[in-house]
Amino acid sequence: MRVMELRDDWSPDNIKPAERPDPEPGPGEVLLRMRAASLNYRDFVMAHRGYGRRSGTLPLVPLSDGAGEVVAVGSGVSRVAPGDLVCPIFGQTWLSGSFRDELWEGMLGGPRDGVLQEFMVLSEEGVVRAPRHMTPVQAATLPCAAVTAWNALVTQGQVKSGDSVLILGTGGVSLFALLFAKLRGAEVIITSSSGDRLARAQALGANHLVNYAEQPEWAARVRELTAGAGVDHVVEVGGAGTLAQSIRAVRASGTISLIGVLSGGAGSLNLGPVVTRNVRLQGVTVGSREVFEDMAQEMEEHRIVPAIDERTFAFEAVGEAIKAFAEGGHFGKVCASFG
Ligand SMILES: NC(=O)c1ccc[n+]([C@@H]2O[C@H](COP(=O)([O-])OP(=O)(O)OC[C@H]3O[C@@H](n4cnc5c(N)ncnc54)[C@H](OP(=O)(O)O)[C@@H]3O)[C@@H](O)[C@H]2O)c1
Repeated sequence: MRVMELRDDWSPDNIKPAERPDPEPGPGEVLLRMRAASLNYRDFVMAHRGYGRRSGTLPLVPLSDGAGEVVAVGSGVSRVAPGDLVCPIFGQTWLSGSFRDELWEGMLGGPRDGVLQEFMVLSEEGVVRAPRHMTPVQAATLPCAAVTAWNALVTQGQVKSGDSVLILGTGGVSLFALLFAKLRGAEVIITSSSGDRLARAQALGANHLVNYAEQPEWAARVRELTAGAGVDHVVEVGGAGTLAQSIRAVRASGTISLIGVLSGGAGSLNLGPVVTRNVRLQGVTVGSREVFEDMAQEMEEHRIVPAIDERTFAFEAVGEAIKAFAEGGHFGKVCASFG
């Protein structure tokens, strides 16, 4: 079967086509014909061995997120059946409960082989049936970005009708956060460096738009929009370069879900207001299979579809796609269909 492999040295330039033996499912395992994949910022970090030893070893099949059709099952399999469209879960051994250090070992796209394979064999425990209304490309956007946004806002954040949610940027995680906040009846303020992407976010339901490139002190605008109080919840993907503004933008006793560090992971910060204003600063690491299943059920019930960018990539052009993705400019998820 055809796969894409990162070989020899850690760089997206070294992701090349390769052949591996066709896998067969053993007891309790499922064989998937992979149909689609999507990119996450993590794939760029991983291709540069950005997680150090936790990135795993080469050769490595990249990308954590995809969707495939079950084409055969081993003995004893009962969770899925041939013909089902399923998504491999991001952390293959994280079925429920809180994140624990040892669960990192089961993550796809590093340290475990990812989804850029013609066929994949996985434990039946490591897949979730895709929402029935979704195409393979739509389903391929869910395992990392959507589960993270759901975990932050719904499972942990308990966002509810009437809450105010500030979302940074218009990338994959952020636009899922927008869809889920609106599903729960929250009011959304979204930021972007692009007027065009802000207009597209408005079409998806965002109530207030803030251009952070034109307004570097955007927390002041967020305070204005919330009658001086600040928002109930911040979806933070910027990290060191944005956290000080997020702390100013959140209300007393509000929550900041720290999901990404796009503008850096280290810097100096005045932590005083986090303490004196009783702010809950919550790190979020994707989510378990249980979180994924809760989300998939509600997405199916409400026929929610992901925001997908016009730009796509071909199976064999993934290295170039990862580099272009890190430059930004996309709106929502960047995907590949394998036909
Ligand atoms: N903790 C987890 O489990 C988890 C899971 C998924 C992702 N992440 C992390 O979350 C972050 C986003 O991931 P993604 O896959 O959604 O990436 P993405 O699709 O590339 O989205 C990034 C978006 O963030 C916005 N952005 C970039 N720099 C910004 C800044 N300084 N201030 C405000 N917004 C900024 C940009 O929006 P505009 O173009 O609109 O300006 C950009 O499109 C990454 O750091 C990723 O590693 C973490």
